[in-house]
Amino acid sequence: MPRDFTARIGHLKAQGRYRRCSISDSGIDFTSNDYLAFAQLPILQEAAISFFQAGGAVGSAASRLLRGYMDEHSALEKFAQTYFSAPSALFFISGFQANYTLLTTIADRGDVVIFDSLIHASSRDGVQASLAKHIRAEHNDLSSYELSLKKAKEMARGQIYIAVESVYSMDGDEAPLAALYELACAYDAILIIDEAHGVGVSGPNGKGLSESLVEREGYERIITVHTCGKALGAAGALICGREDIIDYMINAGRGFIYSTASMPVQAHIVRKSLELLQAEQGIQQRQKLSVICKLAKELLGGHGTHIVPVMIGDDAQALRVSQAMQDKGYDVRAIRYPTVPKGSARLRVSLNADLSEEDLRGFCEALSLLLKSEAA
Ligand SMILES: Cc1ncc(COP(=O)(O)O)c(C=O)c1O
Repeated sequence: MPRDFTARIGHLKAQGRYRRCSISDSGIDFTSNDYLAFAQLPILQEAAISFFQAGGAVGSAASRLLRGYMDEHSALEKFAQTYFSAPSALFFISGFQANYTLLTTIADRGDVVIFDSLIHASSRDGVQASLAKHIRAEHNDLSSYELSLKKAKEMARGQIYIAVESVYSMDGDEAPLAALYELACAYDAILIIDEAHGVGVSGPNGKGLSESLVEREGYERIITVHTCGKALGAAGALICGREDIIDYMINAGRGFIYSTASMPVQAHIVRKSLELLQAEQGIQQRQKLSVICKLAKELLGGHGTHIVPVMIGDDAQALRVSQAMQDKGYDVRAIRYPTVPKGSARLRVSLNADLSEEDLRGFCEALSLLLKSEAA
């Protein structure tokens, strides 16, 4: 008899960990990662339409090392290289694919990867699937990083890596990048920065939280991963780094080599989106978002970024509150274990540039009433 998964699903249901995909485009968006509201921007839609009207292919029809490498991939990578002041850039079909491939490729036997305890599943899975040893550092705790580096120095026969996110996806706090870089220098490590929630939003020009660090220090011991499905409103990810690292990824990265290249229109839209980030429209959206973030910090707390966790604790209660908020017209979702640690279920309030002050105030009032009635 082939395995029946019903019992496992029943187990998830009993633990309150059952999930289902639901199509929802109703309610004010307090949940997507479309921080700059680019995902439905007419200028990007028109870019896709004119791409196809000019005879652009739908599929790339092969992997990048075969016939799948197209002008749009090359144009995007050249643009990204200049935009992020990186020696080299490589485009992947998704952020998960980029992080997983990066870590399974460059972290080899004899190496040690120190990773933040709250790092995204794509990096964690990459670390675990790699041949390197790994050490989990306490979240954003520099003394824990230093201790881990000391241990790593004793264990490593090869390279030490430190893997962090710039803006943490479920907590909205920022990594102390400058201090981590100093530690990386002191222990001869390479710092890998996942800019999934930083690119487009953080940094003086929206190039990510690492923007100033990279401008100052260059890419000698830094690798950045810029996903394109969040503030950029598209999909995919760009890994930026030294030429030898990108060249090695092309030659040894299994997730790169053995996978069909992205649809060329995906690369085309990402390039347009990067162009937009530095145009007036991008600058204005960033300013609007920053106003909303300031107000959200006053009303909801958090770290002043575009991701605000409203901690609830209990999974079932978090689900109940998020459902009640959705019923009131606010699309906010509950985040539960295993995405976040056990007992730290929360509403992940995600802000975007198109939210008005009125939207945010209405959201906070509705939430506060609900939380009071839950406590009663
Ligand atoms: C921090 C972080 N890294 C990587 C990813 C994966 O990116 P993508 O959605 O493009 O696969 C995500 C997305 O959820 C993320 O939050």
